Amino acid sequence: MTTAKKLFIKTYGCQMNVYDSERMAEALGGQGYETASSAEEADMILLNTCHIREKAAEKVYSELGRLKKLKVDKPDLKIGVAGCVAQAEGAEIIRRQPAVDLVVGPQSYHRLPEMEAKVRAGEAALDTDFPAEDKFEHLKSRPKARRAPAAFLTVQEGCDKFCAFCVVPYTRGAEISRPVLRVLEEARDLVERGVREITLLGQNVNAYHGAGQKGDVGLAALIRELAKIDGLDRIRYTTSHPNDMDDELIAAHAEVPELMPYLHLPVQSGSDHILKRMNRSHTAESYLRLIERIRAARPDIVLSGDFIVGFPEESDADFEATMELVRQVKYGYAYSFKYSTRPGTPAAERQLVDPEVADERLQRLQRLITQHQQEVQQSMLGREVSVLVERQGRAPGQMLGKSEYLHAVHIDDAMAQVGDIARVRIVDSKTNSLTARHIQADKGGE
Ligand code: SAH
Ligand code: SF4
Ligand code: F3S
Repeated sequence: MTTAKKLFIKTYGCQMNVYDSERMAEALGGQGYETASSAEEADMILLNTCHIREKAAEKVYSELGRLKKLKVDKPDLKIGVAGCVAQAEGAEIIRRQPAVDLVVGPQSYHRLPEMEAKVRAGEAALDTDFPAEDKFEHLKSRPKARRAPAAFLTVQEGCDKFCAFCVVPYTRGAEISRPVLRVLEEARDLVERGVREITLLGQNVNAYHGAGQKGDVGLAALIRELAKIDGLDRIRYTTSHPNDMDDELIAAHAEVPELMPYLHLPVQSGSDHILKRMNRSHTAESYLRLIERIRAARPDIVLSGDFIVGFPEESDADFEATMELVRQVKYGYAYSFKYSTRPGTPAAERQLVDPEVADERLQRLQRLITQHQQEVQQSMLGREVSVLVERQGRAPGQMLGKSEYLHAVHIDDAMAQVGDIARVRIVDSKTNSLTARHIQADKGGE
């Protein structure tokens, strides 16, 4: 008798890990694995990890400590570590936690089936190469099952920017872009399976320059090609670097209706001194001018950003410059983090800011960001927006989805199903979401 083996993947970190976890599940699906709903029922557990801050990496070891105990009752259970911690720490993971059977870096996921066979035979398997073969090509085959209406699609991976604080260029390697035809093929396949919104992913997605039929193609041209796909109603992309925001991409925001009016554009700091020490190669001023141009192209665009507070040598004046930049931009949402030293990065050698001072700055910044978030949400009150319905809400009849501006919207009297794009009017703003009513007149209209 052969019963299917069960696979449980726990995903940490960024959206690219979410995408990769799906690909890994598909790769191991070919080895007879089905998805398990908990670690307890799994025959193989994979942690898809993040190395961006110390806390993220440490979480992995505490989780491994817990998972190891499952092996007592289930000696055949295999535990693997994938993602950026796997890439950064490699064999060290097995030394630190011998219960780990498999370590696989992000560029080697297509080799998982062979690695699985090896661990089943009782050996440890380690692969943190940056192989020459294209993992995307080998991870292509996928079941034609229907899926949720919003999906991720990785078009670019890796980073050549080397910001002084960041591990990504080391864990994801050099920047590569997938060829245009491959991206279009994957997008069409997603649309056939019920997807209406695709978020293009890349660590530096707007640096995309994939091979096209007549030479390299930038992100703006790729978006225009994708917009031609019938049934693909919404396109987003993340994460962008300010220096790669070219005129064509800004123009696409004005001209391509499928391109949603939301942009995540991290700046990290508002101080030119700190930006220079971060190796960001833009200034606060050049960033603000860029924002002006983007808003001129798409006045209603909602912006979000990332900030690092307490970067080495950050003075009170540097921090105040960040607060000032935030006041000027007024983000609809922003992520802010206390600087975390990452071994091997240039900033790791530098003098740290007093942690209490950094904490206090972080709190002040987060209060300001939250205030702006609320104001931007309030500005939506009374407005008509379109919501891609993604799932049922908790209350009866309630549906949940995202507006064009990426706000989470609860539709209380939903006359819509998952996968519909509903015209609604915003009637209330809660802490992290908006509430809406259906606009009846639009039902069956157009
Ligand atoms: N490629 C993206 C995202 C990188 S990681 C970009 O260029 O913006 C996501 C965010 O984590 C970064 O934008 C940064 O704000 C934060 N981050 C990265 N390294 C960090 C570190 N060492 N300490 C604290 N935050 C960090
Ligand atoms: Fe990291 Fe900078 Fe590259 Fe973003 S652009 S991934 S922050 S090195
Ligand atoms: Fe983390 Fe790696 Fe993504 S370090 S943020 S999982 S690229």
